[in-house]
Amino acid sequence: MRLPLIAANWKMNKTTAETREFITEFLPLVDGVKDVEIVIAPAFTSLPVAAKFLKGSNVKLAAQDVFWETEGAYTGEVSPLMLKDVECTYVIIGHSERRQYFNETDEIVNRKIRAAQEADLGIIFCIGETLQEREAGETLQVLKRQITEGLKGLSAQGLVIAYEPVWAIGTGKTATPEQAEEAHSFIRKELKTLYGNEAEQIRILYGGSVKPDNIASLMAQPNVDGALVGGASLKPDSFSKIVRFKEP
Ligand code: 13P
Repeated sequence: MRLPLIAANWKMNKTTAETREFITEFLPLVDGVKDVEIVIAPAFTSLPVAAKFLKGSNVKLAAQDVFWETEGAYTGEVSPLMLKDVECTYVIIGHSERRQYFNETDEIVNRKIRAAQEADLGIIFCIGETLQEREAGETLQVLKRQITEGLKGLSAQGLVIAYEPVWAIGTGKTATPEQAEEAHSFIRKELKTLYGNEAEQIRILYGGSVKPDNIASLMAQPNVDGALVGGASLKPDSFSKIVRFKEP
């Protein structure tokens, strides 16, 4: 049994005051939820305030990115050790916006995953094809490359995969449950090639225009084990409805 994981990726949104306000409103809405692991990934600047207000709750903290060195002359970067220091449990690595705007390659992603594993952080490793790649019939090939290169030489320690088709991010065009399942079952098969039976325990999240009204049909698919939510995670009400997807 894989415990569903629902994570909020706030991207470049919310000041510290807005973070505090969200958490104060959100925690009562998910009070008592135990059958879903809940994670929030605010901007770096809001991590300490989020850690303070989430303490003792059923919501865990994630960062949106990390650098691969522990310390040194890397202006603007944040290390795995620093994320542990502010009580992060997870870190998102390889998000398509990092790949697109900051030229992150599979090799960079691989280094970051390695460093996060060494620091004992959980990893939400994002993969997904662009619209152009999907239309060219290259989806599975792209996923295979991202998995093989991103995880080269690495164990499955702390690993969660997020399948985020780039064409579904922020566009309102969600993948159909069948499209998601097709990709997720392919990803599971690739993980089995790398990790054997251990692949059965790895959670594969779906991301891309997840909303309260489409989460249940996505979660009904056998290989969809959770969601990585952008826009709809910014409001306590809509994010709590996604977390409580099992309730009518
Ligand atoms: P949206 O939910 O806004 O489409 O964003 C998805 C995403 O990129 C989460 O990481």
